[in-house]
Amino acid sequence: MTTQQWDPISYERQARFVSNLGAGVVELLAPQPGERILDLGCGDGALTETLVAAGCQVVAIDGSPEQVAGARARGLDARVHDAASLPFVTEFDAVFSNAVLHWIRDADGVLDSVFRALKPGGRFVAEFGGAGCVETVRLAVYDALARRRVDGAAADPWFFPTAERYQQMLERHGFTVEMITLFARPTPLPGDIADWLETFAHPLLGTIPKAERRALAEEVRDAVAPKLYDAERGWWADYTRLRFAAVRPQMADG
Ligand code: BEZ
Repeated sequence: MTTQQWDPISYERQARFVSNLGAGVVELLAPQPGERILDLGCGDGALTETLVAAGCQVVAIDGSPEQVAGARARGLDARVHDAASLPFVTEFDAVFSNAVLHWIRDADGVLDSVFRALKPGGRFVAEFGGAGCVETVRLAVYDALARRRVDGAAADPWFFPTAERYQQMLERHGFTVEMITLFARPTPLPGDIADWLETFAHPLLGTIPKAERRALAEEVRDAVAPKLYDAERGWWADYTRLRFAAVRPQMADG
């Protein structure tokens, strides 16, 4: 399977809205001066900087060496790690994550790692794509791939759970869930849906030869235009967000 690659230049041009839209989840985290925080999936560090500016000691991790290089260039303590097998044990007051958890299929591995990384009483506050996220786009990609005899669903890299399912998973891993909510966030795009696909959907586009990808992206763009474009608003993506705050309890039950 083609893995997602992040190119810092196209990220800045096509994906800056991802960190810009993270202010609400930072507010939910309510970072306090002196807290030790893990930013899980820091990207190029734009939101990590806001945690540092709040007076926190932040360790930022990401699976992408390119993104970690970008975060380090901002002077941040950024490291390459797999979120599903973190090396940290009982050291953070909070784990924070924005727009990342839907990229990691081993969601149980992430929850084990995060629970272990937190101090008792530590909080896990995050936002990511939930059930129904980019469904119009995904279904149109599946259709376009099916016309080329490719199974799009089998190549779909994303994990978009319902709030009920994710709450159960958090609880199964020992967390107490303080709040969890799923909401629609139709998100204006800097380009069109073909640009969005080329920035965010490498695992899907990677199922066909490189020379055919632009044509497929344009076919999808034309198919979704009636739902995701109008002359007044331009293009948007049909994002949903799953936002939650959970806590590692002070004492394990039993
Ligand atoms: C999201 O942030 O919801 C998202 C990003 C890339 C692909 C799919 C969804």
